[in-house]
Amino acid sequence: MKSIIITGGAGFIGSHVVRLFVNKYPEYRIINVDKLTYAGNLANLKDIENKPNYRFVKADICDFDTMYALMQEEQVTGIIHLAAESHVDRSIKDPFTFARTNVMGTLSLLQAAKLYWEALPEKYDGKRFYHISTDEVYGALEMTHPEGITPPFSTQASSEHHEAYGEDFFVETTKYNPHSPYSASKASSDHFVRAFHDTYGMPTIVTNCSNNYGPYQFPEKLIPLFINNIRHRKPLPVYGKGENVRDWLYVEDHARAIDLIFHQGTVAETYNIGGFNEWKNIDIIKVVINTVDRLLGRQEGEDMDLITYVTDRAGHDMRYAIDSRKLQAELGWEPSLQFEEGIEKTVRWYLEHQEWMDNITSGEYEKYYDDMYGKR
Ligand code: NAD
Ligand code: TYD
Repeated sequence: MKSIIITGGAGFIGSHVVRLFVNKYPEYRIINVDKLTYAGNLANLKDIENKPNYRFVKADICDFDTMYALMQEEQVTGIIHLAAESHVDRSIKDPFTFARTNVMGTLSLLQAAKLYWEALPEKYDGKRFYHISTDEVYGALEMTHPEGITPPFSTQASSEHHEAYGEDFFVETTKYNPHSPYSASKASSDHFVRAFHDTYGMPTIVTNCSNNYGPYQFPEKLIPLFINNIRHRKPLPVYGKGENVRDWLYVEDHARAIDLIFHQGTVAETYNIGGFNEWKNIDIIKVVINTVDRLLGRQEGEDMDLITYVTDRAGHDMRYAIDSRKLQAELGWEPSLQFEEGIEKTVRWYLEHQEWMDNITSGEYEKYYDDMYGKR
């Protein structure tokens, strides 16, 4: 019987992971630990909140005593750690909160798991501490794409992608070189996780994933923010020249990778997760505008004039691109969706869930907890 804490389960990626585990493994006990910061929204989990194998605990991962007591109470065998402050722009304004949650919070979980597991007769046998990280810890890549290539740069098989675009990708052994307070805090937490393996023998795994997109993403991130702005004909703030490149993966493909790696990944290993799907921001923005316009019955491209170039983000990383061939070769994972399908599905979801979006933009979503679980 597995008893798994998933941290950050009320956030974007965490809610997809919780949903997948609760539905796919009715024999497991899934405990979602989330502080419900501005980014946590229990409405993301409405469809599974009454399942018998699911429990929600509102708690701060930095609270060591609560984490330790919960691990004992639930006889936890696995931890899938997603809770984090995740938005680069916020980290530029408020780096302390990022160090607190991402570094100290991760350390608090690690130490609680260590003390709990080491006191058991079987110790670390059958246990897993799985830390979810980002490709941003590797720093930024140069723009090496040949000029005149129309996006997507590739959604083809990885080997073709490499043949066309060379070897300039993040691999698992790429040296860490974070630039933003967000990526610096994630890099630090990754180091702590690996240190707990190397020092105490804790069975840890780290994965570094590229940019995710899909339903339930907080509308401060590029894709949901822009979908909502296009709908309401508000300006679309494009940082700098819009030429930065990001490598986009549909969130359910990330959740599937997490499931596979949690169960079959090798302890102490790192796996990069990405779909070989690089886009310049401005090109992806044009696709989003055309898709929203079409689905709203407007003329395609009608809203291009909402594009508004604004001052660039400080320290804006030029390009991220993940090489996920290790994960593909060792565990047989591959993305299930082509980007065109993924973006269509995503835009459609946001347009059909206007109430979810309005609840966030009006601030109503923060009351959901009180209604569900009683006053805080
Ligand atoms: P998110 O901001 O949508 O969700 C974060 C969740 O963590 C929220 O529910 C929030 O309430 C919770 N949380 C924050 N601080 C907490 C604390 N101190 N204690 C308990 N809970 C707390 O983030 P996301 O985009 O879903 O990212 C999840 C994880 O995946 C993060 O670790 C992030 O670094 C990583 N990641 C994200 C992406 C991406 O594109 N979004 C890509 C690669 C990796
Ligand atoms: P974001 O979704 O914040 O993810 P990340 O910074 O983790 O990659 O941003 C994706 C890209 O879009 C990034 O290059 C910054 C850019 N961007 C804008 O141009 N305008 C915006 O309003 C936002 C939120 C992002």
